[in-house]
Amino acid sequence: MTSEDEPGTSSPSMMKTSKPLSRSSRGRLNLSPDPRPKALGALLAFPLCFLVAGLCLRFPAAPCGAAEGPMPRERLLLDRGWKFHLGNDWGTGEELAKAGSSSGPAKRDFNDGGWRNVDLPHDWAIDLPFDRNSDTSHGFKPVGPGFISNSVGWYRRTFTLPREDAGKRLWLEFDGAFRDSRVYVNGYFIGHNESGYSGFRYDITDVANCGGRNAVAVRVDATQFEGWFYEGAGIYRHVWLTKTGPLAVAPDGTFVYSKFKGDAPDGPAEIQVETELSNAQNAPAECAVRWQVLDAAGKVVAEANKSARLEAASQAKVSQSMQLDSPALWSPESPALYRLLTAVESGGAVVDRTETEFGVRTVKFDADKGFLLNGKPYVLKGTCNHQDHAGVGSALPDRLQYFRIARLKEMGDNALRTSHNPPTPELLQACDRLGMLVMDENRLLGSDAANLDRLRRLVLRDRNHPSVVVWSIANEEGEQTTPAGGRVAETMQKLIHRLDPTRQATMAANVGNTFAGLNRIIDVRGWNYHIGKEIDDYHAAHPAQPNVGTEQASTVCTRGIYANDRERGYVSAYDDNAPPWAHTTETWWKFFAARPWLSGGFAWTGFDYRGEPTPYAWPCINSHFGILDTCGFPKDNFYYYLAWWGNRPMAHLLPHWTWPGKEGQEIDVRCFSNCEEVELFLNGQSLGRKSMPRNSHLAWKVAYAPGTLDAKGLNAGQVVAEDKVETTGPAAALKLTPDRPAIDADGEDLSIITVAVADDHGRTVPVAGNLAEFELSGPGRILGVGNGDPSCHEPDVFISTPGVRSVSVDGWRMKEVPDAKDRPETAKDFSARDWRRVDVRADTGPLSPGHCAVFRTHYTAGPADLSSTNILLSFGMIDDEGWVYVNGHFAGESHDWSSSPAFEIGKFLEAGDNTIAVVVKNNEGEGGVNKGVTLVVRERPVAAAWKRSVFNGLAQVIVQSSREAGELKLTARAEGLAPATLVLPSRACAGRPAVP
Ligand code: GAL
Repeated sequence: MTSEDEPGTSSPSMMKTSKPLSRSSRGRLNLSPDPRPKALGALLAFPLCFLVAGLCLRFPAAPCGAAEGPMPRERLLLDRGWKFHLGNDWGTGEELAKAGSSSGPAKRDFNDGGWRNVDLPHDWAIDLPFDRNSDTSHGFKPVGPGFISNSVGWYRRTFTLPREDAGKRLWLEFDGAFRDSRVYVNGYFIGHNESGYSGFRYDITDVANCGGRNAVAVRVDATQFEGWFYEGAGIYRHVWLTKTGPLAVAPDGTFVYSKFKGDAPDGPAEIQVETELSNAQNAPAECAVRWQVLDAAGKVVAEANKSARLEAASQAKVSQSMQLDSPALWSPESPALYRLLTAVESGGAVVDRTETEFGVRTVKFDADKGFLLNGKPYVLKGTCNHQDHAGVGSALPDRLQYFRIARLKEMGDNALRTSHNPPTPELLQACDRLGMLVMDENRLLGSDAANLDRLRRLVLRDRNHPSVVVWSIANEEGEQTTPAGGRVAETMQKLIHRLDPTRQATMAANVGNTFAGLNRIIDVRGWNYHIGKEIDDYHAAHPAQPNVGTEQASTVCTRGIYANDRERGYVSAYDDNAPPWAHTTETWWKFFAARPWLSGGFAWTGFDYRGEPTPYAWPCINSHFGILDTCGFPKDNFYYYLAWWGNRPMAHLLPHWTWPGKEGQEIDVRCFSNCEEVELFLNGQSLGRKSMPRNSHLAWKVAYAPGTLDAKGLNAGQVVAEDKVETTGPAAALKLTPDRPAIDADGEDLSIITVAVADDHGRTVPVAGNLAEFELSGPGRILGVGNGDPSCHEPDVFISTPGVRSVSVDGWRMKEVPDAKDRPETAKDFSARDWRRVDVRADTGPLSPGHCAVFRTHYTAGPADLSSTNILLSFGMIDDEGWVYVNGHFAGESHDWSSSPAFEIGKFLEAGDNTIAVVVKNNEGEGGVNKGVTLVVRERPVAAAWKRSVFNGLAQVIVQSSREAGELKLTARAEGLAPATLVLPSRACAGRPAVP
């Protein structure tokens, strides 16, 4: 990965400002030594801490090679402790005249004290209220075209680098930011990345301050959309700081894959490794690369080595192969993983070591047999998914990726398409570990340099993941049938084959029996919709081309709703509704299940997502396509898939059985089951036994009577599965159920808590809509709330926004002094009564060139000032240089007349009278304290009260741990209902290495 645009070079001869820009202080780095000790010592031997089913699992420590010492390589999470400001207040920050002279928040010393504290991943679009005038397909959030003031956000993070980092290579890595980001380090512009979905990284070695403070500023501009679905806004994926020695494995420099004799995965596997080395030194380097393959128990099961010589400042690839006897093959059912350890040895020491998780397996799409996994036909039972979730928008903590993949697997789903963009790498890690095949999708068709570079970054980043089985180059492009579209696709496909000889490419094509353009050249013909004769005719005409159902279904339904309701924006959950281009669940799956050569396919979509509220518009704000809603609560169709994709006898009845007022009326009762027969009972009376047709469902008309409707599934005459729906009583109590009994206190882990409204027998009331309020105590925070209602306009997040007050600071007096050094006039009690009065709101003056002065005034601080979280003394201009004192304490200095410096002074303020003094040195032209002085007071935020209505009985609260172990206590209250309290342990856990 690299940046998309290199910083532009600038001409030194083109200044045009009101003052000459020749000041030496401009853009200079502070090289003062950092008194803090190095925060992270020797790195642990590659711990892999991941969270599955509540366990903090670790692979055993890696075996060590010769001369092990502290590794220069560290990968530190840079998610916590960012400052955030929403608004396009400063332009881009880029200054083209001189290097290191970026402006506004991009300046190294910009005062961001008044900005909001945020942790990543962060999506600011989720904070905004729904707005009917904003884009329908993006979910009615006022961001994007037409909403400029909500579409630019600035992030800043400062940190100290230890002195020992000098000589290392330092990389700032972004898993993704939406979108059009500009990154600055210590006032230097370091890169521009347009894509909202591609990862990017920058080498910041040259501009980093080792042994001192560093400031990273990121401007994110979400004014332009990339897709036609909710995309979020901000740094919505992780940021990392990676350090390596000067001789190291290059970024994305490892490729590991397996081959078998005759392509059949019997007998030993040949493990191919390719390592790209980078030598940033000014001299050639001799080194040896040593590879070890470790199994899940940490045992070395294969090893190899090779020596290499790298010229000064060069890169070189070293390849080798190893034999792995009796490999454990990776599959969704058995996601066996290995680790490749790559050690680089030079001068008798190990200078770098990396670890790469991989799986041994083969994949291929065959024209006759469909998809082959490990040489055998394997039907893809997949879903397409966008990347947002209730409560958090597109900013998903890793744990939510695991939660979502596990939910999909519960219904027998074995494949996922990352429609329509590169995923975050953590999603792929979840798929590797939990066992989910992935169609990894590129965002845009294009063979121009920028698009090919994005494709290259995607393939290099993701090609080691065993879960990734096919690359999708694009979705439903208008150019797919033109000759030019075909040529562009061919160039892209060639690049894929060069970077990854192990996988084929496809494209999600929404044309029927058409062999023009792209479909003529693509490895695997993708099918979006068009089921029926067109697919069969195409296959008959092009029997040598493999096929896959890239996107099917687009069935629409709302959880727990059994009649279409245009006004409220709900679609019945019976499998009856699909837009004209789409199909019901049963229609598409019956078609694909009957044609093994189609490889199976991907239903649109696994989860509901924000935006695309088809078939309606406002008040609907999210899609109805999901098999699960935005929280991951299953709709009834989930059980159709479970019946035919799962592998256990089951039965599911719909609708619910709480219909007061409908007594005696006929209700459309359906049953999803994979049993041979199903018998239905109402209050113990049989309503008949029916045979279940394959890949279908059963239906009865039942006159409603309160009580119990019971479906018994039978195989060979024996009851093997059962489902009951019961008439519930009125809503009586709240219930809280966490997805896991405990979480880890690593500052990242989540508890995903189901809120249910129950009757007095503890049964969820399927029609309840009560408003619940939530209160959390203990070491953690509520991250977001949701309920899966596609028409709900309640907020997903409640931010405690502090009030901000601005007070003009007047009453200034000044006195000229011979120089600016150690002025006694800055003392708290110095009397300025006989000094000259001065209006600091003037644009310029009163000092002549080469003159110095002290400016003084008083400020009376009240209790509201003293209890504020942050109080900034903000100057319109200090011309040219200034040193600021409050009650005799030094508060900060400014050396740039063109900046509007601000200083945090809260810690110096006293109740009652305070003195403010500014020593000013004017070098050229007129100077002084000008353009006004203001105190910006941020009041202490009031803790937000979290609340959410349940939708058809259910809501979700997402709670995140802090790094402190302890007990989290969530209490839910609702008017007229018994409250519920959940106590959840958050267990001590090391957490990932992070930038302090
Ligand atoms: C497809 C498109 C998807 C989504 C879907 C809705 O054509 O690829 O992104 O819009 O329609 O049915």
